[in-house]
This record gives sequence, C-alpha cells and structure tokens, in this order.
Amino acid sequence: MNAPGSQPGRTEPYRVAVLLSGSGSNLQALLDAQAEGMLGAEIVLVAGDRADAYGLQRALRHGIATAFVPLRHPRDPAVRAEWERRLADVTAAFTPDLIVLAGFMRVLSSLFLDRFPNRVINQHPALLPDDGGDTFVTSRGIVIPALRGAHVVADALRLGLPVTGCTIHRVTPAVDDGPVLARAEVPVLPADDETALHERIKAVEHRLIIEVVARLARLNG
Ligand code: GRF
Repeated sequence: MNAPGSQPGRTEPYRVAVLLSGSGSNLQALLDAQAEGMLGAEIVLVAGDRADAYGLQRALRHGIATAFVPLRHPRDPAVRAEWERRLADVTAAFTPDLIVLAGFMRVLSSLFLDRFPNRVINQHPALLPDDGGDTFVTSRGIVIPALRGAHVVADALRLGLPVTGCTIHRVTPAVDDGPVLARAEVPVLPADDETALHERIKAVEHRLIIEVVARLARLNG
C-alpha cells in the first residue's frame, strides 16, 4: 500500500533527512506528523554538527539513525571542505529524496549541494521575497527589509518591524535565497522580546514544514 500522500505506483516511502544544530522543535513537529500518518514521508536520518544539539536526542529517542558530524576548525577552508564531503557522504548513505535544514547553522556550499540537486530545503525565520531582492511586501502592502543571516528575529525587533514571519525555500549556494516554497507572516507584538517572538514564529514554522514536506512527498513520491 502507498504511504498517505504518495503517488500511486510508488511503494517506497519518500525519504527525508533532517540536518540541525539546535533544539529540533521543527524535527519534533515532523516526527509527530509522521507518527500521526500526516506526513506521507519517513524521516530516515537526523544529522547535526553539534554534540549538544537537543534535536539529536529527539531523533535517538525515536529510534532514528542519528549522525554527529562535527566541524572542528570552521575557518580552515580545507577542513570545511572535507567536513562538507563527509556530511554529504553520511547523508547520501541514507538515499534521501529530500534534505530539510531545520535550524542547521552552517552554510552549505556546492560541495554538498551538488550531491543533492534540487533536494535541499531550508527554514528561515523571516520573510524572503520571490525575486531574491532586498525587500518584501507584506499582505497589507507594507514594505519591509528581507532579513538574511543568523540573527533575523533580533533584527526584526531592532528595526521595529510591525510584521515578520517565516519562509521555506530551496537551497542554492546563495545564502537565504533560492525559490520560495512557502511563507507565512507573524505580527510583532509590543511586548515581544526575541524569545517570545521566535517561539511564535516557530509555532507557525511547525505547521508550514509539515505542509511543505507532505506536498513534496505527494508531488515527487
Ligand atoms: C527555526 O526558527 C528555523 O527557521 C531556524 O532555526 C530555528 C530552528 O528551531 N533556521 P528548532 O531547532 O527547530 O527549534
């Protein structure tokens, strides 16, 4: 029988690898959706670059293959290249149809990406435009900067934006760019600090990542 959401004819489940560096609440959302039969996909590998990433514990608890691939000297280009090759080798061993960067705090170059053409997607906790530009127009017509980098939740607060959000996009060698698959707006509230705002963004991200993985599994399964 086909997995829910997969194309008729395909008997193998759609295979998903998750790469993370942190708490893994998005991984948990995917695991819960899988357990409820809502994902139409199977998480076959969780890999991380930090030994203390709680997401790795979540994966182990669920009996999912888990890999810790440390990057010891991030500023050394040769070490970094070797690390990307190793990470790609480990990931490729699990033959994923899709690789989800779910809070993976390293930039991946074409050394990794070329091994998985069009198969890597990223979650970004801010609104990114379709055209790769520097601004985003919200549903209410407000023009806000397209925030990129590792501190975009704090940036949204610092800039006093009335609204921010989250984006899921395909990964290209350009950082926080690549075709957008889904996005959602999240209002910034007067009492927000970074933690409160990020938690509300994550709540939306959890829903969005399940929708996107289920959709891709349906289309490509
Ligand atoms: C998410 O906000 C994601 O957009 C960003 O890192 C966060 C990961 O959260 N890239 P978690 O580890 O899944 O809780």
